[in-house]
Amino acid sequence: MDCKAFLCLAVFIICCAALKQNPDGKSGWTGKLLVVPMDGSHWTGVKAVAEEMGRKGHLVIVLMPEVSMRLGPGKHYITKMFPVSYSRDFFDQVMANYSDLVTTSPGSLLESVVSKVDQVKKLFKVFASTGESLFKNQELIDFIREQNFDAVLTDPVLPIGAILAYNLSLPAVYMLRGMPCGLDACPNPPSYIPRFLTRYSDRMTFGQRVVNTLVSILEVPLCKLMFWPFEEMTSSFIQRDVSVMEILSSGALWLMRYDYTLEFPKPLMPNMVLIGGINCEVRNPLTKVSV
Ligand SMILES: *[C@@H]1O[C@H](CO)[C@@H](O)[C@H](O)[C@H]1NC(C)=O
Ligand SMILES: *[C@@H]1O[C@H](CO)[C@@H](O)[C@H](O)[C@H]1NC(C)=O
Repeated sequence: MDCKAFLCLAVFIICCAALKQNPDGKSGWTGKLLVVPMDGSHWTGVKAVAEEMGRKGHLVIVLMPEVSMRLGPGKHYITKMFPVSYSRDFFDQVMANYSDLVTTSPGSLLESVVSKVDQVKKLFKVFASTGESLFKNQELIDFIREQNFDAVLTDPVLPIGAILAYNLSLPAVYMLRGMPCGLDACPNPPSYIPRFLTRYSDRMTFGQRVVNTLVSILEVPLCKLMFWPFEEMTSSFIQRDVSVMEILSSGALWLMRYDYTLEFPKPLMPNMVLIGGINCEVRNPLTKVSV
């Protein structure tokens, strides 16, 4: 699906969901949308939807850390920046190390998994500290509370927006490419669904299934390790023990930015909608060049 079609579909679904919850169009709806984006390529699709919702007359406020890769202002939404505890240099270095690792793949599967998880862990720690900076910013949190948003649009792969929506008791609309560690709560049997980095297909030999099962067992502690900074941050913000899984499962709507031409088929929950379109920007047609 091209990006324009995907964008229309996403905006349509969000509007429909709002109408469904409020068929008479009255009773306290403010038409305001809070967007808590994720940095990097994840931002492109979310930005397009934020722009389009703003263009349609909604008040859209996008929260952004002062230091980021790609996040930035737009024509139809309002940007709210918040300070973070790390410097631009440090952030750039973490990103550079991470992209080095993604582009160069070390030898065996185990090495690949272990070193990638180590880098992802570092990255998660940085992003968790972003969340902490946001949640400790009482002035900003109070401002958000006062706005009476109708919904929160966020990419839940880093659950900052999801945590915020949970705390504010607002419906969360997730827009995502995928969720690691089975955090989307969909059935994920290792005998049929190949694990990330194994490069298997959904038709595995017996040996491959065994390896796939071992990888899925290994995933459990690795995922704990990765999401641990978020668990800690969540509990300190919400002031009781609550898991990332519990937060995510309270989401109202999951807009899954893929379809089954790219992904292996798997069961989905009823509030999940496949909208296609990977992390892509709305493109302009190429200009004709005469030769
Ligand atoms: C990036 O990688 C270099 C070399 O491995 C290392 O010395 C440095 O501490 C890393 N920086 C960060 C912020 O992880
Ligand atoms: C939201 O967070 C505040 C503290 O930051 C806490 O007192 C409150 O109980 C939380 N509410 C929910 C619904 O999690």
